Amino acid sequence: MNRYLHRATILAIFLAPLAAATQTTIPILTAHNALVLHTDASGRLLTSYMGERLADTKDYGQTGASYRNAEDILSSAYTPAGSTSLAEPAIAITHADGNRSLDLRYVSHSTSVEKNNVSLTTITLKDPVYAVEVTLFYKVFANEDVVEQWSRIVNHEKGNIVLDKYASANLCLRAGSYWLRQYHGDWAREMQPEETRLTHGIKTIDTKLGTRADLFGPSVFMVSLDKPAGEDEGSVLYGSVEWSGNFRIDLEVDPNDQLRIIAGINNYASPYVLSPNETFTTPAFVYTFSSTGKGDASRRMHRWARDYKIVDGRGNRLTLLNNWESTYFGFNEDTLRGLIKGAKNLGVDLFLLDDGWFGNKYPRNDDHAGLGDWQENRRKLPNGIKALVKEAQQDGVKFGIWVEPEMVNPRSELYFRHPDWVVKQPAREEKYYRNQLVLDLANPAVQDFVYNIIDSLFIKNPGLAYLKWDCNAVIYNAYSVYLKDRQSQFYVDYVRGLYHVLDRIRAKYPTVPMMLCSGGGGRVDYGALSYFTEYWPSDNTDPLERVFIQWEYSYFYPAIASANHVTNWGHQPLKFRIDVAMMGKLGFDIPVGKLPATDLAFCQGALKLYNEIKPVIWQGDVYRLADPYKADCASILYVDSARSSAVLFNYLVNNRYDAGNKLPVRLKGLDPARQYRVQEVNRYPGAPAGREDGKLYSGDYLMKVGLDPQVHADRSSVVLQLKTIPG
Ligand code: DGJ
Repeated sequence: MNRYLHRATILAIFLAPLAAATQTTIPILTAHNALVLHTDASGRLLTSYMGERLADTKDYGQTGASYRNAEDILSSAYTPAGSTSLAEPAIAITHADGNRSLDLRYVSHSTSVEKNNVSLTTITLKDPVYAVEVTLFYKVFANEDVVEQWSRIVNHEKGNIVLDKYASANLCLRAGSYWLRQYHGDWAREMQPEETRLTHGIKTIDTKLGTRADLFGPSVFMVSLDKPAGEDEGSVLYGSVEWSGNFRIDLEVDPNDQLRIIAGINNYASPYVLSPNETFTTPAFVYTFSSTGKGDASRRMHRWARDYKIVDGRGNRLTLLNNWESTYFGFNEDTLRGLIKGAKNLGVDLFLLDDGWFGNKYPRNDDHAGLGDWQENRRKLPNGIKALVKEAQQDGVKFGIWVEPEMVNPRSELYFRHPDWVVKQPAREEKYYRNQLVLDLANPAVQDFVYNIIDSLFIKNPGLAYLKWDCNAVIYNAYSVYLKDRQSQFYVDYVRGLYHVLDRIRAKYPTVPMMLCSGGGGRVDYGALSYFTEYWPSDNTDPLERVFIQWEYSYFYPAIASANHVTNWGHQPLKFRIDVAMMGKLGFDIPVGKLPATDLAFCQGALKLYNEIKPVIWQGDVYRLADPYKADCASILYVDSARSSAVLFNYLVNNRYDAGNKLPVRLKGLDPARQYRVQEVNRYPGAPAGREDGKLYSGDYLMKVGLDPQVHADRSSVVLQLKTIPG
């Protein structure tokens, strides 16, 4: 299952007998950080240090002596359950003979270089009594200071074993205090932050929702050491489970005042049976650590995501016009023709046809029917999608389409044809979420069905250029007809089935842009994003709300992946809505034909500007300068890697009397020695420019004194572009 196991060069292999007396030190190093693992006298693998790199590599050997007790069971690098460790386990197994104890001792480790900057350390552990082997993987992205960590469990016993818990990672940090920033939410309220000091005992962040797993909160979190980290100071770890299903993260301040973080798939209702010689590979837990604040940590994460994780992270993205908010389900071919013309008129790259285009016996005219019947509705689209794709092409606009292929409405032909494909309890009343049920992706026949929906859309419509993949329901009444007596594998096999389908799609259509949507950000994680080019942060497109939602997402995900649409939500002027949507990948979801001429001209101009500044927003470094949670205004800056071009967005987020920025905004990330020309861009026709327009400043001045965007009630959003002048 894991794609990272093809190693190019084996650099070193160290072998030690089981339960070695010789102690081994394994430093796992990035450009700035070190994770040091160490075997104790019995060969158990412990974490002896995690933090900034030490100046002298020889010093790592001494970190093993930094325990209070020689055999510090609380520092296990992968805590096994049921033997000498009594701490929260990373792994728990019921053996073939029913025994539930596990002990893991070091056997060997090796490090290989996969490509420049990326290396993989593997550490093999074995139980001295039972034939179970566990390999820990540490994939290091050195320059980005990012590590992906996962494990592989192999059953060498003669009978089946049961994995009762199987975490991806088990970290161990040491500081005076630990501050957790976590997120909760719901539909249209994604990424609500909460920051709190962790007390002794275990704090768990988890989900049991199955498909739309992040609906009430994602797996991304950050932990600051000693005090809550600021944008530019403080030590902070960002972590996330790369898994689009049930996850669980335990954060335990233990009796030795260490912080143990155990993260991976949620073992809730999921004991996993492994047959003899079968292997279980966990998804990765990804993390980065910075001792220079949250801003630095986020920029590291973004670079990693663009270069190694999201599809086409350094590539292009398409601006678009979506029809969802202007038509909902009520459209026909003529309406769509009009919107395609609107897309052309606006100047976007693509028209995206949303929900409602399919179903005949049970037409998709609202959200009660049709899901599962992926044939064009003949009344709405008598000439099919093909005619629309052609129409768009003639207008020089690309065409994209919405699907929700994992789902089924009970009012659909699919539901009657394949009742055994539907996730539901055989003897219980059905319970719906948005009037729908989930298809059983643990079943290979369902995987084929879902793959073929997508494949045939592309085959029948060769010009199809974009896919929006939605997922609007959680899993109630989890039960798979296909899995028979292995029901406890369902949650895991569902996600594996989903990834299997996406693997097949990506093998055939490697770079076609695809939006990851789950009624908003209900499924945004790096497991899913390795198949998608972008995600839909929230159905809440009120730009004021979006400032906050996009702000929090920006800690973990790069702007290029954030699909932001201009809609009619909220009470802000059109300029404000466009300025907020520009802070990512710009799209529109408005009835273009109804726009007054000045608004239309403004949108057209905004798109031209966006095409000029998008490389800086997508590929540049982000600096969060003024925090909307603390100030009247939010200011966020993008600077290109050459430090020659930058874009500063400022938004008023408080409507009280006299609200606005009182002090200049100090920029970051510029070249102090160079001169920057400031231009106020994206001004609404007729609106005067602010006082900074046309000014020339040194980078040094801008970073020490700052500039005044003059944000207040009459200038509620201001965009400033900065460019170095030659010489
Ligand atoms: C939920 C999505 O978030 C919306 O953008 C839209 O695609 C609807 N589903 C369609 O049903």
